[in-house]
Amino acid sequence: MARKKLIKFADLDELSNVGQVSLNNVQEKLDAFIDPEKCLILELGCGKGEYSLALAAEFPQSQFIGIDIQGERLWHGATEALENNLNNVLFLRFQIEHIADYLPEHSVSEIWLSFPDPQLKKKNIKKRLTSPRFLNLYKKILKPNGLVHLKTDDQILFDYSLETITEQAGTIIESHSGIKQAMKDNPTLNIQTTYEKKEIAGTIIYYIKFQL
Ligand SMILES: C[S@@+](CC[C@H](N)C(=O)[O-])C[C@H]1O[C@@H](n2cnc3c(N)ncnc32)[C@H](O)[C@@H]1O
Repeated sequence: MARKKLIKFADLDELSNVGQVSLNNVQEKLDAFIDPEKCLILELGCGKGEYSLALAAEFPQSQFIGIDIQGERLWHGATEALENNLNNVLFLRFQIEHIADYLPEHSVSEIWLSFPDPQLKKKNIKKRLTSPRFLNLYKKILKPNGLVHLKTDDQILFDYSLETITEQAGTIIESHSGIKQAMKDNPTLNIQTTYEKKEIAGTIIYYIKFQL
């Protein structure tokens, strides 16, 4: 591992707004953070957590949790949150597959899937964050009428997600191939992630808002 990455990785252990499966403190951090009176919003596969950070600043009365397995990316988000005194955002490092082991049932108002890996190889389809296995996990933790937002630049993932959500008896509330118009109506879609900033030139961004 590069030296800079190693330093960030070591630092991550010291950050008060991070819980890690490797330190066995995810549940402890969550229990101390969650206020059942407040709206809880998750960003899954958050990377550096741009959605969590921007929304946490805009909605101080809500709580945000960014989840990813990559410690170095979480370090960026968690450090920025501390620098900006964003006390309503927490970052957790664990595999999303275990999300229902940690989050209370029907506790989450919204989930953001911000540019998840499209997992294009046939053998990896079950790893897509909109595969039936993951949709069932989200159903467990979402409140009734809770919302899921998918933003992607991958048409195969977009088409697959529309099909899978419908097969799983979910409800598509909005879907857009190219979100310029949707961005005018929903300014939240203007938030750009690291991945999006790198890939956006000439790329179509797809968006689905759905319920399960
Ligand atoms: C393409 S990146 C997007 C990161 C960020 N949302 C962005 O748009 O810049 C996908 C992220 O999902 C994370 N990820 C993928 N599968 C995961 C899983 N099963 N559990 C936890 N994190 C996962 C990866 O570590 C990676 O940071």
